Amino acid sequence: MPRRQLFVTTALPYANANFHIGHIMEYTQADIWVRFQRLQGHEVHFVCADDAHGAPIMIAAEKAGLTPQAFVANIAAGRKPYLDGFHIGFDHWHSTDAPENHTLSQDVYRKLRDAGLIEIRSIEQFFDPAKGMFLPDRFIKGECPKCGAKDQYGDSCEVCGAVYAPTEVKNPYSVLSGATPVLKTSDHHFFKLSDPRCKQFLEQWTHEAGRLQPEVLNKIKEWFTVDEEGKGGLGDWDISRDAPYFGIEIPDAPGKYFYVWLDAPIGYLASLTGHFAKLGQDVDAFLADPATEQVHFIGKDITYFHTLFWPAMLHFSGRKTPDRVYVHGFLTVNAEKMSKSRGTGIDPLRYLELGLDAEWLRYYLAAKLNDRVEDLDFNPEDFIARVNSDLVGKYINIASRAAGFLAKRFEGRLSATLGTDGDAVITKLQAAAPGLAALYDGREFGKALREIMGLADAVNEYVDAHKPWELAKKPEAAAELHEACSTCIEAFRLLTLYLKPVLPALSTKVEAFLQVAPLTWADAETRLGAHAIGAFQHLMQRVTTEQVEALFTKPEPPAPVPGGEPIAAEITIDDFVKPDLRIAKIVKAERVEGSTKLLRLTLDAGEGRTRNVFSGIAGAYKPEDLEGKLTVLVANLAPRKMKFGVSEGMVLAASHADEKAEPGVFVLEPHTGAQPGMRVR
Ligand code: MSP
Ligand code: ZN
Repeated sequence: MPRRQLFVTTALPYANANFHIGHIMEYTQADIWVRFQRLQGHEVHFVCADDAHGAPIMIAAEKAGLTPQAFVANIAAGRKPYLDGFHIGFDHWHSTDAPENHTLSQDVYRKLRDAGLIEIRSIEQFFDPAKGMFLPDRFIKGECPKCGAKDQYGDSCEVCGAVYAPTEVKNPYSVLSGATPVLKTSDHHFFKLSDPRCKQFLEQWTHEAGRLQPEVLNKIKEWFTVDEEGKGGLGDWDISRDAPYFGIEIPDAPGKYFYVWLDAPIGYLASLTGHFAKLGQDVDAFLADPATEQVHFIGKDITYFHTLFWPAMLHFSGRKTPDRVYVHGFLTVNAEKMSKSRGTGIDPLRYLELGLDAEWLRYYLAAKLNDRVEDLDFNPEDFIARVNSDLVGKYINIASRAAGFLAKRFEGRLSATLGTDGDAVITKLQAAAPGLAALYDGREFGKALREIMGLADAVNEYVDAHKPWELAKKPEAAAELHEACSTCIEAFRLLTLYLKPVLPALSTKVEAFLQVAPLTWADAETRLGAHAIGAFQHLMQRVTTEQVEALFTKPEPPAPVPGGEPIAAEITIDDFVKPDLRIAKIVKAERVEGSTKLLRLTLDAGEGRTRNVFSGIAGAYKPEDLEGKLTVLVANLAPRKMKFGVSEGMVLAASHADEKAEPGVFVLEPHTGAQPGMRVR
């Protein structure tokens, strides 16, 4: 196959929150596909970015007391642990607020305007007189015009399900200020999707073979259809918002900004541009090359934007349009829908912090994914079963069953021959490669994994038929034992290759154990022969019920503390009794020559001797004010050699995280009656 040139993206997450498990599932799907293409030797540029703009982010930033730029920068700074943790291999992460995106968005707009596809129209909209800004529908609430339910959003009623215009809401109020909104007119810029050129282009673009999934195409046909009342069909799209707005300025239109959904997908190109700048390669040449394929992975909720607005924007600004838009369904957890903003069920970082293996989740998600727009559910029991019985029970076990005998009996060297049965198993595994490749390329990951587990079953049947543990007892069966174990390792190598798009970190461990170069798809056709493997190292744990339960137990929220220092991680009573805390009398306190921070304390902790302790409290106490007082000493702290002598413990004092912050440092003192040597517990 000729080398493919792929430009692959996932949807750009809003920069108003950390990732939830739904994001991780989208990235995992795309990452598996990308890793598979790379194993095939194809060239892939896999990029993403933060979707930084829009009214909700502007308002969230204001609430947090930050500029929108600082607010989204904070969110961006938190992305890495998720992506690294779940082995999501983006080549580049950008922001839609980056300069490239400003330039590109304004350029796209100018081209659309020059093509006669932008129209300015005056519209009437709710305005918050207290805030001095136009209100998006979601920031207006009031009584439902149909059923009278209170506190309903400006666009729809959660009680009776009615959908309406914000101007129909009774007793409307602004969510931002509580003020009664007033109607105000303003000029808005529209992208004329109703133009016959757009309709014609999109009819043709959406119907091109292989571009869209059949169910997506069906949905689009509905969107195209005009009903008997003349409703439906492609309407013009309002692409402008009035200041104040966090976004990109519209050229030649002071005070007007692009609606976030105009510049968001252009962020794909901005990110690719940033990536190519890093590579020192020409992004325009890459995009102009007819061999380049542009592929977007998205969730079903943003299909309209990606299959109508986005290709039209690209086409009529003279650019390459997407070759494929791959739409996935939504992940639910315990069959519960998660909120788009909050997420629910599983917090991805907590998953990692609890020590659950990221590749368990990758495997589980992959096992449930297909090429359709179907929702998929994370079910805890099902998760445990798939990981333990398939991944560990069927696959990992193959290696552990054979590695020991090879090391002990054959110095880790494989047999050059595998025998008739061994050859048959390996041939079967090798023959599966093209079919598996087609499944991966077609995003039928669930089917691919079922087939791979079927192959693992065949290997395990081979093992059960040859019983290496019995062969090992018969000295005359050494050659047969050698062939059986070598067959297992050869099979394990092939299964690892087939699982590599899903389990990249595990594959690296296996490659080290097998002492082979990083596996590529072409290795499905090779054999190890009389190759020496390394010592077997532990590859993957089983998941326990306790681990999965912990995932669903909400950690106690840290109590708010004045000064803002969060409560440290939970400890047990066993941890607590480790420090031996004793009441000690400050017999003497002196300044330390050459130090402005330290006082030298001579302490009596009832041991029949005194201790020398340096304490960083010189800024807070005069020595004479401490002498004769009682305090608390950490009595079993290892002695520490300091510049001025050895410190034999530590006294307890209270302060904010920043000790220099007001009101300063306070040495602990017990209530009257305590005596030196008493234990504090
Ligand atoms: N910012 C827009 C996308 C702009 S693309 C130019 C957006 N952001 S989002 O953060 O709300 O969603 C990002 C992606 O996550 C979307 O593809 C969305 O469908 C996907 N998901 C959000 N919740 C999801 C699940 N519960 N399950 C799977 N994917 C989900 O929309
Ligand atoms: Zn209602």
